[in-house]
Amino acid sequence: VKVSPALKDLALELLTYERELAGLTAEPESWSPDAFAGQHERQRAFVVDTAQWQHVMCARQAGKTYGACGKLLGNAITRRKSVNVFLGLTGAAVRENVWEAIWKPLCARFGVPDRALNESRMSTHLDNGSRVLLGGTADYDHIKKQLGKRLDGSVFCIDEAQDQKQNVLGPLLDSTLPPMLTPTTQVVLTGVLPDVPAGRFWREHDKPRWSKHGWGRFDNVHTPEARGQFEEYLRVTGISLEDPRIQRDWFGRAVFDSHARAFRYDAAKNGFETGPVIFPQLTSYAVGIDPGARDRTAIVVVGWGEGTGLWVVEEVVTPLDSGTTWSWVGRELGRIQKTYRPGWYYADFGGSKMSLDVFGRDYGVPLIAAAKKADRRAQVDRVNALLSEGQCHIAIGSDLEGDMLKTQWDTAARERGEWEWSTHNHPDVADAFRYAAHAYFEARVLREEPARDTIPSVAARLRLLKEREDGGSYFEQRRRQFGT
Ligand SMILES: Nc1ncnc2c1ncn2[C@@H]1O[C@H](COP(=O)(O)OP(=O)(O)OP(=O)(O)O)[C@@H](O)[C@H]1O
Ligand SMILES: [Mg+2]
Repeated sequence: VKVSPALKDLALELLTYERELAGLTAEPESWSPDAFAGQHERQRAFVVDTAQWQHVMCARQAGKTYGACGKLLGNAITRRKSVNVFLGLTGAAVRENVWEAIWKPLCARFGVPDRALNESRMSTHLDNGSRVLLGGTADYDHIKKQLGKRLDGSVFCIDEAQDQKQNVLGPLLDSTLPPMLTPTTQVVLTGVLPDVPAGRFWREHDKPRWSKHGWGRFDNVHTPEARGQFEEYLRVTGISLEDPRIQRDWFGRAVFDSHARAFRYDAAKNGFETGPVIFPQLTSYAVGIDPGARDRTAIVVVGWGEGTGLWVVEEVVTPLDSGTTWSWVGRELGRIQKTYRPGWYYADFGGSKMSLDVFGRDYGVPLIAAAKKADRRAQVDRVNALLSEGQCHIAIGSDLEGDMLKTQWDTAARERGEWEWSTHNHPDVADAFRYAAHAYFEARVLREEPARDTIPSVAARLRLLKEREDGGSYFEQRRRQFGT
């Protein structure tokens, strides 16, 4: 990139500051499992394990990814010319959560020089001839090209194993890896306890070939604040210690709901009695529409105001096989428009991303946007967070409540690593609700102030510098920007 001398100076200033931040000026430590894992005994045991097949299934935030990175780095340092691989879900996710957040700081800590790191490829070449390659299983082809035919002395780790698709994990374990193994290769699967007892990662756990590791979040002594966070979480949500999700996510125990309900609706916390309802001060409304002629058609209106949480103020649901048409939907929306003046309309138009603008003249309904439905699992997760916090209010006896209670994930799809509704109940109303709730989540994100103590990434800051080349030093800009 061509830069002016002034910008170069600023960039150098920034880099110096960056190094100080990263503690690079401090003497690097020399590698040892003890230096790396400290008092985290379970992580240490995983790091020093040399079994061919290693299965690591833990709570969340337990130190799995960190442990895997330590294992790779330790192996690369101690075993010359070894090739080591870390696969997450996608390259982009690995870059943000592993390469930047864990790998680079770890390299700095144990004295791997900057020049060993190849940013664009996320690869690391040590002076002893060892290599460490990071990437996503989604872009494994790219990594495959850099591997030889034999993984002698290698550590090959697949992280987020609970969420890897069956058509990824299956071929890797069954056909790709076996011919490449030598007695000194280690294949490592790391992941959390899955939501339902299904999927390749879960089933592998029962097979005798694995050396197994599993631990809870409180075994991770490197995050001592977790205990307080946990108590606060239990207090706010009112969830009990015996709740299967708590047992899995915090304690790493294989406890599952007898029937894995997709939604964490709890009438005591989230239900309100119908009849003359007095809603709190709601100031914004959004509408979600899940159209169907044979399935039910569902229209759900949600509302919220300052600090009120999310309220479902109305639902319109047709019976099955009603032969509903768009003009009927249009008339309903016209009435809804008059009553609430919603700011957002979302509908499921099948795969189409096109918006619908035909109801404007006849019914005064503004543009209906295509529902955001790409990441069903993540959307259900954030609805569940809202339900757990008691911030979502649904009428008792409504069709939406019925969907909340009946909907389950499909176990066969979970085997394939996918998130599909089971045939118990097709949640048309909960889908319409999820589309509408999108507007609430977006609005909430916009309202939340950026955290003041967040340090923007180097790339973001360089961009900032470029944009305001004549605007004073980085520090002055930062002072102006964040008031610090
Ligand atoms: N050996 C270690 N040294 C220093 N800090 C550590 C170590 N192990 C874990 N940590 C800390 O614990 C945090 C969680 O670790 P990590 O990201 O590996 O957890 P995880 O089990 O992979 O979590 P997730 O379930 O979110 O993937 C890290 O961000 C880091 O701060
Ligand atoms: Mg992790």
